[in-house]
Amino acid sequence: MSIEHCKIIDFPKIHDPRGNLTFIEGGKHIPFDIHRVYYLYDVPGGAERGGHAHKDLHEVIVAMSGSFDVLLDDGKEKRTFHLNRSYNGLYVCPMVWRELNNFSSGSVCMVLASNRYDEDDYLRDYANFMRVRWGG
Ligand code: TYD
Repeated sequence: MSIEHCKIIDFPKIHDPRGNLTFIEGGKHIPFDIHRVYYLYDVPGGAERGGHAHKDLHEVIVAMSGSFDVLLDDGKEKRTFHLNRSYNGLYVCPMVWRELNNFSSGSVCMVLASNRYDEDDYLRDYANFMRVRWGG
């Protein structure tokens, strides 16, 4: 799968003067079964997260609060998404390198993932990612 499969998903948004509400339903809004949820918070200014690809894992990244940038790179094409809406999610398919940076103060990055944590699923070295992805 390549970067063209990665896209912003619009979640439902219920406008309400008491505060807006968004919901995410398994089997409907997310293109995989959710097996794990994790979140990044208390990210210090200037920090970078990610810096890896996954062999099989599908993820949806949501800026629950604040904003940050997600750089996606499949080795042929790069795209940067600025996430700043809690009713949007960025779907990231397997075998795409991702880097998260430019976190605003107090931002929270929630990730819905298709599998439980498995270090063997990570490609943490970019040159190795490129070899696995494109051969050579
Ligand atoms: P890592 O995936 O490298 O963080 P990020 O991509 O957000 O920069 O994970 C950092 C550490 O946290 C690493 O030691 C593995 C651990 N970890 C878990 O134990 N479970 C998880 O679900 C995740 C995402 C990470």
